[in-house]
Amino acid sequence: IREDPRQVSVYIADYIISRIKAFNPTPEQPFVLGVPTGSSPELIYKILVQRHRAGEISFKNVVTFNMDEYVGLPRDHPESYHSFMYKHFFSHVDIPPQNINILNGMATDLSAECASFEARIARYGGIELFLGGVGPDGHIAFNEPGSSLTSRTRVKTLAYDTILANSRFFGGDTDKVPRMAMTVGIQTIMDSREVVIVATGAHKAFAVQKGLEDGINHMWTLSALQLHQHPLVVCDRDATLEL
Ligand code: GLP
Repeated sequence: IREDPRQVSVYIADYIISRIKAFNPTPEQPFVLGVPTGSSPELIYKILVQRHRAGEISFKNVVTFNMDEYVGLPRDHPESYHSFMYKHFFSHVDIPPQNINILNGMATDLSAECASFEARIARYGGIELFLGGVGPDGHIAFNEPGSSLTSRTRVKTLAYDTILANSRFFGGDTDKVPRMAMTVGIQTIMDSREVVIVATGAHKAFAVQKGLEDGINHMWTLSALQLHQHPLVVCDRDATLEL
């Protein structure tokens, strides 16, 4: 628990940097990082970019897998997760373009796209550290309430709560928010060797309480991490109000 979103972000950015450095990645054995979008990670990316510019960390031997992407948004749509990642992170660091993996929301065969994403993760020997946020309804990635806890990358229909929450990025118009997304599954996240979740703000407090203090269940998919061997949830004070 840290005081505010800034301290949470500094903590997580420093943590990721220390993990990458300890791993000492090479082109043959890169550090495989799972990455999220959303407002919560924005400041984390900003700090990582600052640290990179200060010469403290290189992402040359880092491979990324994004958690999710909207179905039906072209890559260059301003609200695609592809655009988000380049705007906030990839364009400002030295990660080689071939090391970046983001689901293609315009793929003609969505199931094949999801299967090939899982296969690419497997080819790299799995994900070392998965960074994620949490939705106000307790979802991780786009694993909405009711998702199977053994799910893998697939297409999900978004819950109305999520459409409402994410409409702020679409001029407040829920009709403009895509209805479907592709997302890594709970099992994909569980298979990573370490999971770090960022939760800030009072609107996340209920999800944090349900996910950490209630039993494991598929309605609050954050709760699956209770079974993970190496989870870390970093909250600000506001996000702990219901604990
Ligand atoms: C979206 C993303 C999630 C993210 C969540 C919370 O639904 N698919 O990966 O964790 O939003 O986002 P925010 O950090 O903006 O609250």
